Amino acid sequence: MARQLAGTRVQFLGSFHDQLPEVGLPEIAVAGRSNVGKSSCLNVLVGVRSAARTSKRPGRTQSINLFQVENRYVLADLPGYGFARVSEEMQRDWKRNIERYLGRREALLGVILLIDPRRDPGGLDKDLLDGLLEAEIPVLLVATKVDKLTRNERQKAFSRLSKAYGIERSTIVAFSAKSREGKDELLSRIEEAIAPSDD
Ligand code: GTP
Ligand code: MG
Repeated sequence: MARQLAGTRVQFLGSFHDQLPEVGLPEIAVAGRSNVGKSSCLNVLVGVRSAARTSKRPGRTQSINLFQVENRYVLADLPGYGFARVSEEMQRDWKRNIERYLGRREALLGVILLIDPRRDPGGLDKDLLDGLLEAEIPVLLVATKVDKLTRNERQKAFSRLSKAYGIERSTIVAFSAKSREGKDELLSRIEEAIAPSDD
């Protein structure tokens, strides 16, 4: 099943609903609303344009896709929540799938929670954030598509986010899959998570 992506050090381990393989490496999941840019973010992080499938249509990623980076860690591309155009039953199904993964995945080191800073904060994003904090799963809040914001809009959006989520503004990472802003920061946060320094 595993497939080396040509010319890279990234392996696609497969697409799973349940029964995920035990890889024996630390894992970091990319979570967020449908269409927020999870798959695009993952592609930027692994440096492969089309490792994870992206789409203008929300609901593209419906199962959990695992990508192994070298022999070091695994990135999990999660299905998005909050896509209104699928049946409630399917929504519940996805939610259950995501929660089961987050609750049971032993190798899970932390979650990159992508949010769109142009949307009103709260709702499902806040639910997930609260759930992660309660479960003591480390979470990094990443505001994505910042290329779409002017400087002024960005300032305002970040203040709003920080207030709504009770998180210091400086700890919210600004990211764009388009400009690649925030890529290095995210990668270094992943490095820190998989190999914590002793000091
Ligand atoms: P689902 O799998 O459906 O939950 O979506 P996703 O969160 O994986 O989003 P995906 O990466 O497929 O991106 C959705 C759309 O947003 C695509 O049209 C992307 O090109 C676009 N997009 C993603 N990231 C960015 C970004 O940083 N800037 C801009 N301008 N567009 C982006
Ligand atoms: Mg996706």
